[in-house]
Amino acid sequence: MTANAVLTLPDGQTVALPVVVGSEGEKAIDISRLRYRTGHITVDDAYENTGSCRSAITFIDGDRGVLRYRGYPIEEVAKRSTFIEAAQLLIWGELPTTEQRMRFSDLLTDNSALPEDFRRHFSGFPPHAHPMSILSAMINCLQAYDLPGQVIDDEEELERVAASLISKVRTIASAAYKSSISEPIMYPRYDMKYTENFLHMMFSRPYRDYVPSPEATRALDLFLMLHADHEQNCSTSTVRMVASGQANLYASAAAGVCALWGRLHGGANQAVLEMLTAIQTSDVSIHDYVTKVKDRRSKVRLMGFGHRVYKNFDPRALILKKAADDLLDQMHVADPRLELARQLEAVALADDYFIERRLYPNVDFYSGIILTALGIPVEMFTVLFAIGRMPGWIANWAEIHRDPESRIYRPRQVYVGQTERPWLLQSQRGGSSEPDPV
Ligand code: SDX
Repeated sequence: MTANAVLTLPDGQTVALPVVVGSEGEKAIDISRLRYRTGHITVDDAYENTGSCRSAITFIDGDRGVLRYRGYPIEEVAKRSTFIEAAQLLIWGELPTTEQRMRFSDLLTDNSALPEDFRRHFSGFPPHAHPMSILSAMINCLQAYDLPGQVIDDEEELERVAASLISKVRTIASAAYKSSISEPIMYPRYDMKYTENFLHMMFSRPYRDYVPSPEATRALDLFLMLHADHEQNCSTSTVRMVASGQANLYASAAAGVCALWGRLHGGANQAVLEMLTAIQTSDVSIHDYVTKVKDRRSKVRLMGFGHRVYKNFDPRALILKKAADDLLDQMHVADPRLELARQLEAVALADDYFIERRLYPNVDFYSGIILTALGIPVEMFTVLFAIGRMPGWIANWAEIHRDPESRIYRPRQVYVGQTERPWLLQSQRGGSSEPDPV
């Protein structure tokens, strides 16, 4: 029996609204019939209190710092899985059997190379082009080379297109980087697994192979796994919006890349490292910097801190903080910015400004330290986030396309502009008295 919330309007009209309870006990008021029954809509700037969908992919409890992929705690996934296995879990809902894992691995390998004439597009971008602009353009361009993939009617076709996108996004990213440093674009190797192959394409040269260490490969695989999905964040909601109109998977993923680019979202990992570097190379003390952050007039934020959902530690940040420690130890690399990040975290977590606002380190606070240790340039950080998030975008796209009841997303608005008014002739508008255009 569904319980109801009762809404009483100023005119005394009351309406019963069903309360929906999720599998983890979250409660939501279903307002899908509100406008039809009362003529009212709701308004919720930035969707802070609005659930856009019912989804079974990822669960977050922001108050308790809980994150689960299809019911598996992120700590277990990080310890026991790989990025590609996590991708299959997110997209198809279960941990893959050996046969499923082998089949998907073969599809990734078979779909890792870019069409030969596709590669010439990279030379069309100026060297200073941001790789996120290249990535979104090239993902959209991929669909022109995969016309059958523009219509996905069954799981077999979804598996092929998913493998193509997950595999090629890595090849495109490395090609964008190589083009930006005027080095030859490297071909993927068919004897390498996903993450190792990406590092090969990023850092090998035709005359000299780069062989990543197992520690470096594992650290990057962990980074990608932790970024794989995060319920209805800005970029995933964008993918769902585009998918709801029945745009194809390539177009939806390209839209996700553009949304992720924002510095408040996926662009934050680049902004964190730039912040740490700026503090490190300036004579500004940590306390002075934090004081500036707390002064709202400065408009300076502590990048990598705060989250719309987590009002506790982001579990991914805790895992990445330890991974950064371990990787630098294993590589015998010292990065003073890691120590600086630790000090910033300690100062912020003891400061009432951050405590009152429940601001904690998020996934971006330590991730850049790992990427820097791997030799990934800061301009590529958000691209790495996009590579990691691709399985989550695909899983959300598929969740919409598997749902026969799915409808196009089309929010309403509260109009606050001009009410109806008479047309103004040119002569009535002020300025020079030009004749009217028609
Ligand atoms: C990601 O949604 C997801 O799941 C995203 C993500 C994913 O995996 O997809 O987790 C990835 O995007 C992580 C977030 C990365 N962004 C940053 O690190 C940028 C810095 N953080 C913020 O700008 C901010 O915390 C947001 C954007 C993450 C969240 O913003 P909200 O929820 O809109 O919060 P808000 O801006 O309304 O802030 C509430 C208060 C304000 O102060 P008051 O008006 O109450 O005085 O907290 C303050 C803010 O000024 N505040 C900060 C702050 N974040 C919030 N003050 C200083 N530094 C910060 N980082």
